[in-house]
Amino acid sequence: MTSPRTNPGPAAVVFGLGAALPPCSVSNAQLCRELDTSDEWIRTRTGIRERRIADPGVSTADLAAAAADQALQSCGSSDVQALVLATTTPDHLMPATAPTVAARLGLTGIAAFDVAAVCTGFVYALATAAGLIASGTAQQVLVIGADRMASLPAPDDRTTRPLFADGAGAVVLRSGDDSEAGALGPVVLGSDGTHRDLLLVPHGGHMQMQGPQLFRHAVTRMCAATRQAVQLAGWHIADVDRVVPHQANSRITDAVGRHLAIGTDRRVQTIAHTGNTGAASIPLALAQAAADGTVLPGHRLCLTAFGAGLTWGATTLIWPDLKPAPSPLHDTAKELS
Ligand code: COA
Repeated sequence: MTSPRTNPGPAAVVFGLGAALPPCSVSNAQLCRELDTSDEWIRTRTGIRERRIADPGVSTADLAAAAADQALQSCGSSDVQALVLATTTPDHLMPATAPTVAARLGLTGIAAFDVAAVCTGFVYALATAAGLIASGTAQQVLVIGADRMASLPAPDDRTTRPLFADGAGAVVLRSGDDSEAGALGPVVLGSDGTHRDLLLVPHGGHMQMQGPQLFRHAVTRMCAATRQAVQLAGWHIADVDRVVPHQANSRITDAVGRHLAIGTDRRVQTIAHTGNTGAASIPLALAQAAADGTVLPGHRLCLTAFGAGLTWGATTLIWPDLKPAPSPLHDTAKELS
């Protein structure tokens, strides 16, 4: 299923960006002390060397608010009318976490709600925010992806624990024109609930994952979504300067790159230092790539995601000239320690 941008309303334009990672880095060697695994296995099968894990007292709202605060500062405007938070790890079963984040930012009174599409959540949230802008419901929207994915695996599960980690990323979207740098292109979204058992967390239980099957679906769906989003934007795959994929496994990103003939120099890859941060993964990767110069103003980007559900999604944009933000990998928010 797709949502091509045929609405004649205003476009959603990225004009703020922020990210937050917990300062505590857990290396593969540290995990090996608790799990029957090895640094070599984790590195070669996943590309992960270390991941950031939040202290028990740090909530999803804490991470989300830190990333959102940085995004609002980067655009110099907190005049937003809606906050959309993509998360799989809300602080409570109810209420949603978004109103808490809005209140923490001094934005009490605005529309605020959560979106649950697991690792595709950020792309779903972008599409939702773009719809709010296109319909005239909001002129500026905060879109946040924040997750404490490391809280979901069983402590002794060597299959899932090395993969998942914590973090948050955020963008501010404003009402604008399709021709502007930063304008989101058509958004491709999809789901297939017949494969829900491949990755799920039962009520009161721990994460259960069928890794190899999930791996194959991830490659197929991200390739298809990328192709479709690029085509709907009127581009060719060769026009894409940087693909910013959900960071689940470097071998998944490599396989997507090989299938689409997108070389390593055109793929944003941050998983070695972040692990899989769920809905935070794409905005975190963007923030890191914008800070270290991997993504530059004028670059044609394709954001592409896949997650449990199954869900998938992709969109395109030309990267705008934003105020440089600090690297999330080096700027560890002190208040999250
Ligand atoms: N350390 C050492 N051995 C491990 C291990 C670990 N951390 N985890 C699994 N193994 C073992 C398995 O028990 C298996 O042993 P066996 O051959 O004796 O049965 C062997 O390694 C191979 O396991 P397999 O699951 O086939 O490995 P894989 O190459 O598929 O890699 C994943 C496993 C999980 C890394 C990979 O399947 C993956 O990344 N899948 C996608 C996960 C994902 O993206 N999830 C989120 C989606 S958003």
